[in-house]
Amino acid sequence: MSTDSPTTSIEEQIEAVSAEIDSTSVTNVDEVEAFRIRFLGRKSGVVTDLFARMSEVPGDQRREMGQRLNALKQRAQSRLDSALSEQVASSSEKATDIDLTLPGRVPAPIEPGSLHVLTQTLNDLKQIFQGYGFSIAYGPEIEDDWHNFTALNFPPEHPARDMQDTFFLEAPSDETPGVVLRTHTSPVQIRVMEEQKPPIRVIVPGRVFRNEAISYKSYCLFHQVEGLVVDEGVTFADLKAMLYAFAASFFGGDVKMRFRPSYFPFTEPSAEVDIWWVDERLPDGGRWLEILGCGMVDPNVLENVGIDSERYTGYAFGMGVERMAMLRHDIPDIRLLYENDVRFLKQF
Ligand code: PHE
Repeated sequence: MSTDSPTTSIEEQIEAVSAEIDSTSVTNVDEVEAFRIRFLGRKSGVVTDLFARMSEVPGDQRREMGQRLNALKQRAQSRLDSALSEQVASSSEKATDIDLTLPGRVPAPIEPGSLHVLTQTLNDLKQIFQGYGFSIAYGPEIEDDWHNFTALNFPPEHPARDMQDTFFLEAPSDETPGVVLRTHTSPVQIRVMEEQKPPIRVIVPGRVFRNEAISYKSYCLFHQVEGLVVDEGVTFADLKAMLYAFAASFFGGDVKMRFRPSYFPFTEPSAEVDIWWVDERLPDGGRWLEILGCGMVDPNVLENVGIDSERYTGYAFGMGVERMAMLRHDIPDIRLLYENDVRFLKQF
């Protein structure tokens, strides 16, 4: 449309411009700027031009015409103002699309860890025996031949010293031959009795190492809890009563348990204890699993550490912690305890 044709009356132009102001699109930045230049531009804006034509208007109509032109300018200005403020509003809406108060997204939820099932089992064992008045002692995992074997009354050619069972280490000097990774926690019996005289009532939790065939129930390293009680008048009946009470509190009152005569160089008489492992898939509905060795401390052992074996007697036991955990949680293979598969560990 043309606004500067001299043949068009100012009234007609005002009508046309007014309609154009209303119908022009101002939905984005470019359109708003084009609108401003077309209608309100200082040099060639349509409304500005109309003001310039005021001289054509007869004197008695100028006042009214001036008011109409001002109204037209006002109309253009307010359309521009509202288009501008809408743009500001919508751009700040975009900025607030990000909700800074939302919790962050991480690739996978961070799950809290828990104690390894073996640590849990060891803690339970310690707690039970502390309840029966035992204190806790520890010893080194790297042992000398004296504590691991000789002081425990192993005959010089006993097969337990054989390469089959023991991880031998290179001796640091000729004076300390026969350095081994301890094959059991029994050497700590010797260490305790070297330091302390009866009455003695200790347990020894710890790691032990054996160079034996690996299977579902045996691994090259495992944990034991050793027990040692030395006092006047200690008998095998005390040992049995202690172990029955222990098994009832660890496995529950209905646990099936048996003593089998056995042999250890450092106890006489000796026994092994088995626990019935219920497994409906087996023909007998389960099987016996050996959990500990025990016996009355051999008088030779007491004499080796300078305790009068005429006056004192004692009992000792050494239990396998992995097997306790396996029985309690029905874990079918000892190796699961060392694989660190979180899917397994998470269950406990
Ligand atoms: N030390 C023996 C073993 O590892 C267990 C045991 C401990 C036996 C104490 C008797 C007394 O097999």
